[in-house]
Formats: sequence, structure tokens, C-alpha cells
Amino acid sequence: MNNSHLADIVKTSQGNYRIIVGHNILDSLPKELNSCINNKKIFLIADKALFPKQVLELSELLEKNGFYTNILSVDFNESNKNIETVRYIYSWLAEMLVERKDTIVSFGGGVTGDVVGYVASTWLRGVPYIQIPTTLAAMADASIGGKVGINLDSGKNLIGSFYQPKLVFQDLKFLSTLPKREFDSGWAEVIKHGLILDKNLFFELENIGKIEQKDISDRKIINIVKKSAKIKSEIISGDEFEEGNRILLNYGHTIGHALEKITEYKKFLHGEAVSIGMIVAAKISKKIGLINSKTVKRQQDILKKFNLPVTLNFDKTEMIIQSTRIDKKSTDGNIRWVLLNDIGHATTKTKIHENIIISCIRDTITP
Ligand SMILES: NC(=O)c1ccc[n+]([C@@H]2O[C@H](COP(=O)([O-])OP(=O)(O)OC[C@H]3O[C@@H](n4cnc5c(N)ncnc54)[C@H](O)[C@@H]3O)[C@@H](O)[C@H]2O)c1
Ligand SMILES: [Zn+2]
Repeated sequence: MNNSHLADIVKTSQGNYRIIVGHNILDSLPKELNSCINNKKIFLIADKALFPKQVLELSELLEKNGFYTNILSVDFNESNKNIETVRYIYSWLAEMLVERKDTIVSFGGGVTGDVVGYVASTWLRGVPYIQIPTTLAAMADASIGGKVGINLDSGKNLIGSFYQPKLVFQDLKFLSTLPKREFDSGWAEVIKHGLILDKNLFFELENIGKIEQKDISDRKIINIVKKSAKIKSEIISGDEFEEGNRILLNYGHTIGHALEKITEYKKFLHGEAVSIGMIVAAKISKKIGLINSKTVKRQQDILKKFNLPVTLNFDKTEMIIQSTRIDKKSTDGNIRWVLLNDIGHATTKTKIHENIIISCIRDTITP
């Protein structure tokens, strides 16, 4: 097996799996598949945005290499990340007589991966599945770690399971067709990984020139995505079920999720909301003496460089504060804040005085 594109091997109770990252590496997919699945029957469930060109390229490659592929294209989006879409996919699987030894391939962004992964986890009590993410956000984050699920009217990702894929295969060439705003937004999670766990990745992001979408074949960029994937992988391997360090990945997400929720997921892309959330979290970290203003500024500068927002005109501070009170990560009504204590180091704190939180929110989000 060629290991030059191997970012890491995720180690979980459900088995170990490889994360492959590169540019224009699709030719190596059949070999990777052969090493992690036993059957040749593939059910490819793809985001409609990739249809027909990328989907056909993928299925032709698989067919040429002895796999039998059936394709379902779905118009995946956040508002249909729900039980109806799951039911629709179940009907197709039933029609196709999909058996437990067959393999489901998820091809698309984070919505696709979460829904298809959830389907795979429940169809016949679980069939093997593969993640082929096509957004930067899904490569840096969603495709790794086996958190799969769907939304309910009463909340996002309320139904789901931990169900690990057999392989995560990331070909950056798919990013070429991504809308620019989605591309920019995806960097938020990469930057987050550097901030919370890897100062060297952060330095690299600081020192690299401006990254544009046309540069996705650049070795430096591929290596950064690879490192980011490795950071997520290591966290998962050490804390598969989010009982320990995995919580650190929620840096910036308390306020980020609040912003998304208040605006019904229509105004901000996830990375944009998380960017604002990381700014607020860094300011809180400074206020309680964990970091200095220079560190806050460095974080701000890097987010700006990647075209991410660092301030916001938005007159709903009260709603933001209110909604953080029912944050998923809160224990006994206290929000568990993920904060920075240095570049490359994060920690969690509860019981932060509300005045501090309010002033940091007001300092970032103004009417
Ligand atoms: N499971 C996890 O650990 C985890 C982590 C983070 C986020 N998520 C979930 O991921 C979802 C967000 O994922 P996302 O940011 O990838 O959004 P997404 O899947 O909605 O994709 C963004 C947009 O890009 C389109 N698209 C995808 N790939 C494309 C391509 N190559 N070319 C052109 N268009 C393309 C999609 O159709 C969509 O319109 C959320 O539902 C979130 O809950 C899950
Ligand atoms: Zn996120």
C-alpha cells in the first residue's frame, strides 16, 4: 500500500481506518477500498451538486476496477437533513436489496456524510461505509470521527450515533467546484485545530501567503489539510465517545452554534459563525487571564487573512446569551467553555461570570 498520502490511522473500538489526503489521487481509491472492504458491491450516495461530472468520474473509476456501483443522487442540504431524507434513502436501499456485506459510499459535504453515515449505521443494524468528503469543512472535520446524524424540528443533530467509516478518502481536487464562500468558511476548523492543539500548524498558517482556491494542488496546502485531519484523528483515537478531550473541538462553537440557531442556519455558514465564536472565546480567555492581548490579535489576524469574519453587526446579544444557556455542552446549567491558554493549547472552564461573557460578546457583536 502506498502510504505517501496517508494522513493518519484512526483507532476506534469499531475498528481502525485510514485517512487519505492528497490532490488528484482518485486512482488510488480502488486499492484503498480493496484493503478495507470485502465486497465489490458499492452503493454510492452523492450530493446532487456533484452530479453528473464528479459522480460519473467516480463510478466509472470504480467500475473499471471491478466494483459494481449503483448511484443515488440526493439534493442534500441543512433543511432536509432529516428523517424524510433518511426514509427516502432507505426506500432506495430496499429497492436495491442492499445486504449487510455491501458497502455504502458517502460522496459530498458534511450534510451528506452525516445523513449517509446515519443511514449506514441503521440499515440492517449497520453496513460498512466510506467517507469521500468534497467540502473543506467536511475534510477538516465532519468526515472524521464517526459522529453521524440528522436534525429534528426541535434541534440540530438530535438524532444520531457514533458509527465509524472504514475509510476517509480526501481528494482536494473536488474543492475546485466549491463556492468560494464555502471554501473560505472551511478554513475556520483548520485554524481551530492549530489554535487548540498544534502551534506548529498555527505558525504554518500564519506564515503561508494568502491561500486561494486555485492553489488546492499546492503541496503546502495539501500538507496543512493533512495535518488538520491528523489532529482530529488523534483526538478521536483518544476519545471516541466525547468523554474527555474531544470536547476541545468545540472551541468557538458555543457562540457559533448560537448564531447559527438564532438565524435559523440561513445567515452564516458554520465556519463563519465559529470564527466569531472563536473571537469571543479568545476574549473571554484573555479576560480571565489565560492569554494576553497579543495572542487574541494573532488569532484575529489569521481569521481575517482567511476571509473569515471577526466582528459582526447584529443586534441580538440577549438572544445569543439566552441560547448559550441551553448549549448541549453545558453541565448542570453551567456552560462548559472551551478556552485558549496559549496558541496550540485549550482548556475548559465552567462558572465564568456572566458579565465577562456579556462584555466579550458585546465587544465582538454590535448592533
Ligand atoms: N459529523 C461531524 O463530526 C460534523 C462536524 C462538523 C459539521 N458537521 C455537519 O456538517 C454539515 C455541514 O457540512 P458542510 O459545511 O460540508 O456543508 P454541506 O454539506 O451543506 O455543503 C455545502 C454546500 O456545498 C455543496 N457542495 C458540496 N461539495 C461540493 C463541491 N465539491 N462542489 C460544489 N458544491 C459542493 C453542497 O451541495 C452544499 O450546497 C452540518 O450539517 C454539520 O452539522 C458534522
Ligand atoms: Zn464545527
